[in-house]
Amino acid sequence: MDNYKKNILITGGAGFIGSHVVRLFVNKYPEYNIVNLDKLTYAGNLANLKDIEDKPNYTFVKADIADLDEMRRIVRGHAIDGIIHLAAESHVDRSIKDPFTFARTNVMGTLALLQAAKEYWDTLPDKYEGKLFYHISTDEVYGALELTHPEGVESPFTTVASSAEHHHAFGTEFFLETTKYQPHSPYSASKASSDHFVRAYHDTYGMPTLVTNCSNNYGPYQFPEKLIPLFINNIRHGKPLPVYGKGENVRDWLFVEDHARAIDLIFHKGKVADTYNIGGFNEWKNIDLIKVIIRTVDRLLGNPEGHSEKLITYVTDRAGHDLRYAIDSRKLQRELGWEPSLQFEEGIEKTVRWYLEHQDWMDHITSGAYERYYEEMYSGR
Ligand code: NAD
Ligand code: TYD
Repeated sequence: MDNYKKNILITGGAGFIGSHVVRLFVNKYPEYNIVNLDKLTYAGNLANLKDIEDKPNYTFVKADIADLDEMRRIVRGHAIDGIIHLAAESHVDRSIKDPFTFARTNVMGTLALLQAAKEYWDTLPDKYEGKLFYHISTDEVYGALELTHPEGVESPFTTVASSAEHHHAFGTEFFLETTKYQPHSPYSASKASSDHFVRAYHDTYGMPTLVTNCSNNYGPYQFPEKLIPLFINNIRHGKPLPVYGKGENVRDWLFVEDHARAIDLIFHKGKVADTYNIGGFNEWKNIDLIKVIIRTVDRLLGNPEGHSEKLITYVTDRAGHDLRYAIDSRKLQRELGWEPSLQFEEGIEKTVRWYLEHQDWMDHITSGAYERYYEEMYSGR
């Protein structure tokens, strides 16, 4: 451990985005010691990290971020210099059923981690010098935007992520770093609260913190309760595709590896105490996105075009379903030069291929406990 330039704690590294961040850091920075801390809830899966688990600069620690004593022990024991905090309960539908778990992990867990870092760093001679607590948050804290162009108009902010055939904006407003927090779901309320605690530790104690708010991610290793992997898997099994409401809600999608690249850049070059929005100006109405997924899966499975459209099933809308998310990430592009690398069609193609080629990964998750939870969650819809 002593030979490493930095000891970096990544929380939630067995989850979807966290596993991409851990992989990127372990491979790109052999001079860093990477400690992955994860409770391994239903969403945490060490199979996501099989390819790097034997690397000498990687350690896994199973722990609950809400356990303050455990956080103290880990942060001190590994002499942590930097924290990239992704561990969270992350699914809106679960937060509607069980808000307390979200408050416990997302709010109290973040607070415990902040406090453990502060206590340890306070004992060091150079205190906060070279230290950073980087908190990963979501655009959902900003609430919902209006849908003023239901059919979509040409986006004023097209980037490489918005594909050649699709660069629509569904409204005139976008989330900026200065947009007022207005969370609606228990998930976004818990993330908003944790963001405030992170900033409070800077403003009150001078601790070096940073927050980023990212749009919806997609790509390999996403748990199949989220729209894209769920629908790919259901199409494969000929199961219904539950579209909430009319499918008119708009989300702004970013390929997960582009998010991980942004996290790397911001961890190293971001301004302490600042906030950056991360997104690719890539808005899609759910139903249009679902049709792209259907087309792609059918093509790759050798089904006739449109074959799986019959699986589309409109179901009761999600309670408090946010209408539109759209991130303005020009600050990150301007100040740190970040750009998404993939066009959406390429990203979707890559993603669908990955799930179809990793059916064992998917089947492992959708068997047993999770399958039972899922049945219960959606029964009566
Ligand atoms: P995920 O649900 O796939 O993974 C979360 C991970 O956190 C899991 O490995 C889980 O085991 C772990 N975890 C949960 N509770 C824990 C606890 N009490 N202690 C320790 N570990 C615990 O989530 P994700 O989609 O990878 O999201 C990661 C982070 O990024 C979250 O903070 C989320 O709010 C944020 N985010 C996600 C998206 C998205 O589209 N998925 C977009 C923006 C921001
Ligand atoms: P999701 O992947 O849960 O992400 P989030 O709620 O954080 O944006 O959902 C993406 C969109 O897809 C959202 O508008 C809800 C909708 N959705 C469905 O229509 N059906 C589903 O089965 C799921 C999981 C989501």
